[in-house]
Amino acid sequence: MSISIAELRGVTKKYQVGETEILALNNVYFNVTKGDFIVVAGPSGSGKSTFLNILGSIDKPTSGNIIFNGSDITHVNLEALHQLRLNKIGFVFQSFNLVPVLTAYENVELPLLFKNISKKEIKERVTTVLEKSRTSRQNGSFACKAIRRTEATCCNSQSIGGKSGIDHRRRTNCQP
Ligand SMILES: Nc1ncnc2c1ncn2[C@@H]1O[C@H](COP(=O)(O)OP(=O)(O)OP(=O)(O)O)[C@@H](O)[C@H]1O
Ligand SMILES: [Mg+2]
Repeated sequence: MSISIAELRGVTKKYQVGETEILALNNVYFNVTKGDFIVVAGPSGSGKSTFLNILGSIDKPTSGNIIFNGSDITHVNLEALHQLRLNKIGFVFQSFNLVPVLTAYENVELPLLFKNISKKEIKERVTTVLEKSRTSRQNGSFACKAIRRTEATCCNSQSIGGKSGIDHRRRTNCQP
């Protein structure tokens, strides 16, 4: 039986811009099971980023529910969401979101500083990831390798890919 990692149940997201209401997601049902590799494709403005932000718990839905590892996380507090994102979900953003005043080492190290792990392990993990990036830069798989320890990964793809999300998958050779 396939194990559900993340699920959206009847999710709707509306943005209010002045007096205009924008319906970005309309009653979406979606399920990711362990080992799935899913590409979300659609025209600009169709709601892909909104969908990924809600699935990755960066944003809240207007209505509907989000289930992660069997638990309903729709209404959990901010601290619980921080912990979930830190330990369970990987993100590859459309823009790289690197901190410009930090070195490459410090950028990779940054999220690990919030985890309860030793300095020695942090150093080993950062060094391993940076070493892999040197050998895999040509096929673009660095980002995928860097976040592999997570259970679910949200890739917003135009940054690495080309014309579409499907291109991104082929070029980066990013297997779950
Ligand atoms: N923060 C926001 N405030 C108001 N409207 C928003 C906001 N974010 C997205 N929208 C609107 O919601 C709709 C979906 O936008 P979204 O960014 O999710 O689309 P997308 O499929 O990711 O587009 P793209 O391919 O250009 O990245 C669009 O009409 C957009 O203008
Ligand atoms: Mg987008």
